[in-house]
Amino acid sequence: MNARIRTPHLAVLLEPDWAAEALVTDVRRGLGTVPRSLPPKWLYDERGSQLFDRITRLPEYYPTEAERSILAERADAVAALSGARTLVELGSGTSDKTRLLLDALTGAGQLDRFVPVDVSAEILTEAAEQIAQRYPGVGVDAVVGDFTLHLSHLTRYPNKLVAFLGGTLGNLYLEERAAFLGALSDALSPGDHLLLGTDLVKEADRLISAYDDSAGVTEEFVKNALLVLNAQLGGDFDPDAFGYVPFWDSRMRRMDLRLRAEVPQRVRLPGADLELDLAAGEEIRIEISTKFTPDQIAAELGSVDLGVVEQWTDPAGDFALTLARRH
Ligand code: SAH
Ligand code: TRP
Repeated sequence: MNARIRTPHLAVLLEPDWAAEALVTDVRRGLGTVPRSLPPKWLYDERGSQLFDRITRLPEYYPTEAERSILAERADAVAALSGARTLVELGSGTSDKTRLLLDALTGAGQLDRFVPVDVSAEILTEAAEQIAQRYPGVGVDAVVGDFTLHLSHLTRYPNKLVAFLGGTLGNLYLEERAAFLGALSDALSPGDHLLLGTDLVKEADRLISAYDDSAGVTEEFVKNALLVLNAQLGGDFDPDAFGYVPFWDSRMRRMDLRLRAEVPQRVRLPGADLELDLAAGEEIRIEISTKFTPDQIAAELGSVDLGVVEQWTDPAGDFALTLARRH
């Protein structure tokens, strides 16, 4: 045994001060104007990341297990087809399913480095430490960063495979998604690969129950956004004064997750120098989760010079994993 455990390296591209300023800008822009909304990355403080982890284990939330089953079957093919020496993971969270890729890549004897990227520093460092221990000989470069801003950091890694799992692409708005895919393609060299996990369009009732579980964990997760604002901006949101309104927008083919003020209320957010007067019934959109078709994914990737190598779904056809190669 000559492999030794190396401590993970941590690069902080998103300084806490800077994140605090960005939150103020996002809140003024998103909450200060109608229709009110909030960018999704602020859902994932430490509590939010833990709640999301519970969502992935809910019986109604099929995407995690569907994606895991595809990875279990196809990870070896991904390793062989990509020949990657660096695995980057965007929005890595706990990197739980990613272990299937790490197993395949290390099993093929080709992996030098794992680069998880996440806005949530706590969950990222914990995951990076666990992975460094479990895969001695793989250098772990964890990056506290925003994948809508910091992709150029990745150009330093040759022969890379970028994994973007969990359907997180669907949480971006249409314009954000196009900008993200363009920037991602720019950060890849010809021959680098992307492994993209996307949830697929299906019957509305299954989609709705995936985002409205009977244990109420998803509602707690969505309402946690208000607690993040209270903590970061000295706000006085009362989560109990809001109802949770998840619905399927069939025209936009996305889940639309909102909070609705049950009673008229004034909310103070001193840290953003903002006071909101909400009428009864007024809604704040907390998150969208867009659903795709395999052809649509191929077309969107194709438009940014990413050619589909393989596309796989789980047996039920609920979720897709697409391997694409930068031309
Ligand atoms: N990949 C995991 C986690 C998905 S949850 C899975 O498949 O289960 C989405 C993750 O993306 C969270 O960990 C969240 O902190 C992170 N995230 C959300 N917006 C982000 C952004 N703009 N930049 C970097 N990470 C982000
Ligand atoms: N990427 C996940 C998804 O779109 C994120 C998620 C799961 C989520 N459940 C949620 C976001 C509930 C907001 C609310 O499926």
